[in-house]
Amino acid sequence: MAGRIPQSFIDDLVTATDIVEVIEHYVPLKRAGKEFKACCPFHDEKTPSFTVVPDKQFYHCFGCGAHGTAVGFLMDYANLEFTEAVEELARRAGREVPRESGGERGPRDDIEPIFDALERANAYFQRQLRRHPQASRAVEYLKGRGLSGEIAAEFQLGFAPPGWDSMRSELAVDDRSRTALVDAGLLIAPDDGRPYNRFRDRITFPIHDSRGRVVGFGARIIDDGEPKYLNSPETPVFHKGRELYGLWRARRAGRSPARMLVVEGYMDVVALAQSGIDYAVATLGTAATEAHVQRLFRGVNDIVFCFDGDEAGRRAAWRAVENTLPAMKSGRQALFLFLPEGEDPDSLVRTEGRHAFENRLDGAVPLSRFVFNQLAVGVDLTTPEGGARFVERLRPLVNRTPVGPFRRQLVVQIGESYAARIPGARYRRQVERWLDELATDDSSKGLDRLGRRMHAHTERLQGSESPATRAVRMLLHNPSLAAIAAADVDKMRGEQLPDAELLAHLIELLRANPDLKMAGLVERFRSHDWFPRIEELARREPAISDRAKLEVEFVGCLQRVADRAAQQRVQRRVDELAKRRLSELSERERHELAELTVRRGTSRDDKTRRGE
Ligand code: UTP
Ligand code: MN
Repeated sequence: MAGRIPQSFIDDLVTATDIVEVIEHYVPLKRAGKEFKACCPFHDEKTPSFTVVPDKQFYHCFGCGAHGTAVGFLMDYANLEFTEAVEELARRAGREVPRESGGERGPRDDIEPIFDALERANAYFQRQLRRHPQASRAVEYLKGRGLSGEIAAEFQLGFAPPGWDSMRSELAVDDRSRTALVDAGLLIAPDDGRPYNRFRDRITFPIHDSRGRVVGFGARIIDDGEPKYLNSPETPVFHKGRELYGLWRARRAGRSPARMLVVEGYMDVVALAQSGIDYAVATLGTAATEAHVQRLFRGVNDIVFCFDGDEAGRRAAWRAVENTLPAMKSGRQALFLFLPEGEDPDSLVRTEGRHAFENRLDGAVPLSRFVFNQLAVGVDLTTPEGGARFVERLRPLVNRTPVGPFRRQLVVQIGESYAARIPGARYRRQVERWLDELATDDSSKGLDRLGRRMHAHTERLQGSESPATRAVRMLLHNPSLAAIAAADVDKMRGEQLPDAELLAHLIELLRANPDLKMAGLVERFRSHDWFPRIEELARREPAISDRAKLEVEFVGCLQRVADRAAQQRVQRRVDELAKRRLSELSERERHELAELTVRRGTSRDDKTRRGE
């Protein structure tokens, strides 16, 4: 397996890259002052709102909200994976991409042993399914569910034997491999005692990432019992909110299905594949997230979501709607298929076959119709009040959808469903006007108006954001501010302060790497949980540009963060002492409590006076 690309190389490359050159290769850019403009390649528009800022090495679109670095552009526009994007930039710069061999630096370097442990566990489980004396129950169970040996082998199904110890004795040959198995979530290590098998007496389903590496497992109990499925915990390489079961297989080498089908269960994916429907993926016991949807849309234009026909299925579908809207644009379609109650794709495709099941898919409900039906539930559309309520329920959904032709079309379609339901109603015109306004027209004054409103809204948001958030934003846009931060950043860390941890981390990172600019800073976090947050903050530039004012404001924010963290520490100590009986406290602790209570009291008063 190729080693990791050293972080220092990525830093240098991002610094050396000119984002304007990279984007210009795909999109003709026009200079406008210090920036470059174009019609946005991520949504259809007639007036350019796509902006590339060389100073920041960042691009963003006022219309649809697309944004990112040169690496991000290559990933989103040219559909490259992260490493491919880095390789592409290196190729342009005429540089060779170095790879690390061993790993002793930083937590990211420790993931190779985890991948390795997962790979070995996968082989181990498959071997057990063939050879373990008790595997016949598992084999019989799979046969009983109609699976062929070929499909089981293709999906690399396996058997985790009963007992607590088998994996450790076979795979944890030394400390290093044992640690890797624990980090991979395969062994559970109690504080006192020996690590033991997480999966026991279960059928295993390996989950692959988009490059085909095993990142985790789902494991089903044989026959009945609770819990039916156990899944790998979140690990450095496994995130339920990102991975999709079956995605790698559906996309492997050169295949590009016309649509993707999203189902709920592992067994659904396997049974569908056996029937010839080999474009199904499953979420891992969660609703489809925005990250899932973005990944799916990277390869196809149509996604069909499949749900149970019951109330729970409808709720899950609604969450899928909310997470799909941000990714919608013209040319893309999301469809919803509800199955008869008591059936799932596995049972249906086995009883009625591929052809009948695909007919169902062809008849799936388009997003706009599903949205209309759901919004209309419990609302009397024949009254003006009902109309107003309907529009109010629609508004947040429209707001989640990027401005552009898709959004307009969505509102028009919903308006048409509305008109069809209420023919000739007198107030229909009013509802139409409201809808019109919601749709906005990106080719006209509508966009300007919307832009101004959004700007005002952002300013308001900035006024009410926490000091830590504000400081992070200032720092991302002006990394050199890190140099004026007070020495002891740990004082700012407080577990209940939004973004305080991130702020402290950024300051430390910038102290160690004072040459990082915004784009390089953002790239550092690409595979970190903080990435979406950082990208979001990188998009909103602080309103202040005067350096002196900026510094004053920044230092002020840091001070407020440290104050609040201190207050929280006091509060925690007070809570801790107050939990115990007064008679149990030592003399010193009583004094401390009295003193802290007074201090807390004053800081609260401060707060009310400052109007926070
Ligand atoms: P289902 O119960 O519908 O799963 O749960 P299924 O795949 O159809 O199961 P069988 O084998 O046919 O009975 C859907 C998904 O929810 C998650 C799993 O990802 C499962 O595939 N789940 C379900 C769990 O994580 N844990 C559970 O206990 C149950
Ligand atoms: Mn099932």
